[in-house]
Amino acid sequence: MRGIILAGGSGTRIYPITEGISKQLMPIYDKPMIFYPLTTLMLADIRDILIITTPNDQASFQHLLGDGSKFGLSLEYAVQPEPRGLADAFIVGEEFIGDSPCAMILGDNIFYGNGFTRLLQQAKQDAEAGFATNFGFRVHDPERFGIMELDADGHILSVEEKPTSPKSDFAVTGLYFYPAGVSKYAKQVIPSARGEVEISTLNDMYLQEGRLNGQLLGNGFCWFDTGTFDSQMDAAVMIRALETNQSRIIACPEQIAFDKGWITAEQLMERAELLKKNSYGAFLHKVLEARS
Ligand code: DAU
Repeated sequence: MRGIILAGGSGTRIYPITEGISKQLMPIYDKPMIFYPLTTLMLADIRDILIITTPNDQASFQHLLGDGSKFGLSLEYAVQPEPRGLADAFIVGEEFIGDSPCAMILGDNIFYGNGFTRLLQQAKQDAEAGFATNFGFRVHDPERFGIMELDADGHILSVEEKPTSPKSDFAVTGLYFYPAGVSKYAKQVIPSARGEVEISTLNDMYLQEGRLNGQLLGNGFCWFDTGTFDSQMDAAVMIRALETNQSRIIACPEQIAFDKGWITAEQLMERAELLKKNSYGAFLHKVLEARS
């Protein structure tokens, strides 16, 4: 299984902040935004990850994440010259994906909730068995999102991109799992009126074939699309409260990699020393001590 983080886009919704820096490199409390989607893929046991950025920002992402070995990952990079749409990730990433199933997550999406790892593992298994998965989350402003309509049994009846009359309040979140062959489907997507290769059109293709599962993230889950001033602040406040309350760091790639046996104690120690001036580094030391 391969993974893609789509971290391009122009970021104009939060200018002037993003005039000089990629949105997905900005902090959400104590770590760069991209750590959140990165660790989501890690929790699904996905270690081969492609990071798609604008041409301008690629070097900064490489500087931050390198080849991924410090997190026990294999990271590759690709550029998307223009924001041509979310499904374009599978065209840009065609060679990287090859004939594997693939998950894609938006670089500005933050997920948190009890039981999330189990849902990720299920979506991965389903992708390997030929089924795509979309994750739904109830929102108060459905016209701003891709929307999934569900029947009484929770099966998806339709997916629509930013409908003017939404058929439900369930947004399709920015995390998608697809079976092998997704690039071939993405290439068949006809660009929308706004000129984008829409992810909702791609999802509809799987729906028409009876191969689209819907997984609702219910009460107890948090989901943030951190594309606005307020949602960034809300996410940061929530992460800070959770971390203080639970005395741990959420979305910490070093800890996840160490727990999974992807990095050694020496590698973790190197990171802990580098970050030792703050609570993040102190947490890494605590993880090491708990093991020894
Ligand atoms: O966050 C979930 C929503 O994401 C879904 O409900 C929608 O179906 C989906 O279309 C998308 O809606 P947005 O309005 O949030 O899409 P936006 O154009 O803002 O792009 C989302 C992120 O992806 C953003 O951080 C920029 C990045 N992006 C976007 C495009 C279109 C790229 O890297 N490349 C692109 O071509």
